[in-house]
Amino acid sequence: MLVIGHDDFGRRIADLLEADFAQFEKRIFPDGEVCPRIIDDVTESNIILVNRMSIPPKPNDYYLETILLMKALKGFGVESIDVVMPYFVYSRQDKVFRKGEPHSARYVLDLLKHCGATRFFTVVSHVNRAEDMIDADLPAYNIDGFSAIGAYLKKLDLKDPLVLGADLSVDIFAQKVAKALGVDSASMEKSRNLDTGKLSTSEISLDVEGRDLVIVDDIISSGGTMLKSIEIGKQSRARRIVCGAIHGVFSPGTLEKLTQNVWKIATTDTIINPAAEVSIVEKIAERIKVVAL
Ligand code: R5P
Repeated sequence: MLVIGHDDFGRRIADLLEADFAQFEKRIFPDGEVCPRIIDDVTESNIILVNRMSIPPKPNDYYLETILLMKALKGFGVESIDVVMPYFVYSRQDKVFRKGEPHSARYVLDLLKHCGATRFFTVVSHVNRAEDMIDADLPAYNIDGFSAIGAYLKKLDLKDPLVLGADLSVDIFAQKVAKALGVDSASMEKSRNLDTGKLSTSEISLDVEGRDLVIVDDIISSGGTMLKSIEIGKQSRARRIVCGAIHGVFSPGTLEKLTQNVWKIATTDTIINPAAEVSIVEKIAERIKVVAL
């Protein structure tokens, strides 16, 4: 087994699996086309391909890069390719929300399969809707990330914290993090206008005066969801606000905006970003060990 990756993230997965590591380089031509290149020799026929997106997010480039790498690997005659896509791009479009839209998450998996993927590993992919992945014709594994966020938060010297899920869909994870901290949790109710993208949230008042508030979510993209929760936390006079998320997608300007408004913000390293303080490498390696070794 050979792990192919771009950076230390892939190399650490290789070490934990006691597998060899080969590196690929990312290249973008002046006209914007991507052209990754596998630098090291590919000496094995069973490959684990580890590729991460970085900020500013360019999901299309990232996805195409992954596909092109798979095709290059096929050119070496490899037999199997397990794809590790720590942040599952397009996973939020996990159903047809409005007539005429594509079921993008499903098609992302279909195309990976078509290009030779044998298994698909990702981290906390759009929470409760993982069944869509199971339906796809590609074995897919959705790896837990909130226990790593819980462990990180435990190390902070938090004062009588309350854990708030930024959205009802992450309530179960807010409860999990709260349990790890031995405290209570609550969750916001949010809805998004599918035409305008405008967010609205339920009226909620939190009993956090003088206490720390920990806001958790799976994804921070535009930051709109987090900012709504931060606003409630401030109105409720929270002492300090900490944001913890799995995927720091951070569209341009978002991280700066959030940083100005909270005491701390941390994500896992599923996406390369300056707030990626929580490593998910061990969780990924553990799951691959169980499934693929
Ligand atoms: C949505 O259902 C997710 O759980 C996140 O709350 C959402 O993706 C965050 O997006 P944004 O940062 O753009 O509000």
